[in-house]
Amino acid sequence: MKRNTLLLTFILMITMSTTLQAQKALVVYFSWSGNTKMIAYQIKEFINADIFEIVPEKAYSTSYNICVDEAKKEKESNARPAYLGSPKNIESYDVIFIGFPNWWGTMPMVLNTFLENTDLAGKTVIPFCTHGGGGVQQCFKDFQKQTTDCKTQKGFLVNGSSAWEAEPEVEKWLRNDLKLLK
Ligand SMILES: Cc1cc2nc3c(=O)[nH]c(=O)nc-3n(C[C@H](O)[C@H](O)[C@H](O)COP(=O)(O)O)c2cc1C
Repeated sequence: MKRNTLLLTFILMITMSTTLQAQKALVVYFSWSGNTKMIAYQIKEFINADIFEIVPEKAYSTSYNICVDEAKKEKESNARPAYLGSPKNIESYDVIFIGFPNWWGTMPMVLNTFLENTDLAGKTVIPFCTHGGGGVQQCFKDFQKQTTDCKTQKGFLVNGSSAWEAEPEVEKWLRNDLKLLK
């Protein structure tokens, strides 16, 4: 009896891991200075996902201080900045990673535009975020609030200055937490 239970558990585990690996994945990201983009491409490479970059219709200033001001104004006015294009065949994806930098303690407002514009109901959505020393702050909580009709899984957080060397951590997260790698 005990042996049968063990065997059943083992078969279930194998089935679950192959099912997850067979899922079609998309990585969506917004990145102003490249850190989040680096993580997005690491995820893409590990799990062979498709990728979509959120490009705001009106580009932010390339000056850090001006961009910080622009982002502050958008947050204060609860803005919904427009972005260019949209992912093709979003309905065909089972798992959607969504990455962004921490801006003023939360997601850049354009992420709210994306999450409100895109029908992700019932899908598995997984956030990842890069920050500049403040950590997660409200980023993942605000992400959760915008994805209540989705299944969410453990997000990935990294200091943006370590993004270029984050590959081992990204791999660990994909393998151990999300079970998306063998
Ligand atoms: C407009 C703006 C606001 C930011 N606000 C925060 C913040 O509140 N907390 C924090 O830790 N880092 C903050 N940062 C730093 C970024 O989160 C960090 O550098 C991130 O890795 C940048 O990602 P990116 O290269 O993908 O744009 C801010 C950066 C910008 C440009």
